[in-house]
Amino acid sequence: MQVDNPEIKCEILPKDKGPLKLKGNFVITDMDGNLFDLGGRTEISLCRCGQSEKKPFCDGQHKKLGFQSTVRAFALSPIPPKE
Ligand code: FES
Repeated sequence: MQVDNPEIKCEILPKDKGPLKLKGNFVITDMDGNLFDLGGRTEISLCRCGQSEKKPFCDGQHKKLGFQSTVRAFALSPIPPKE
């Protein structure tokens, strides 16, 4: 599935010592383009520690592991021009 819908807007929050929290209007697909059925959720957490048994979703394992990550906003370098 190709997602080109301009109405799909999402806020992504990398939580301290935890998952990526998605909030808004979004879809999540697998590599075959199949949509995950999110059961109507408009907020969901994606695993950032790599230990969830329900990837890509967070299942709380990061707490048991003591996952450490604190992210604060910064600017990426500009996209290099295409050749
Ligand atoms: S971030 Fe929560 S289980 Fe990985």
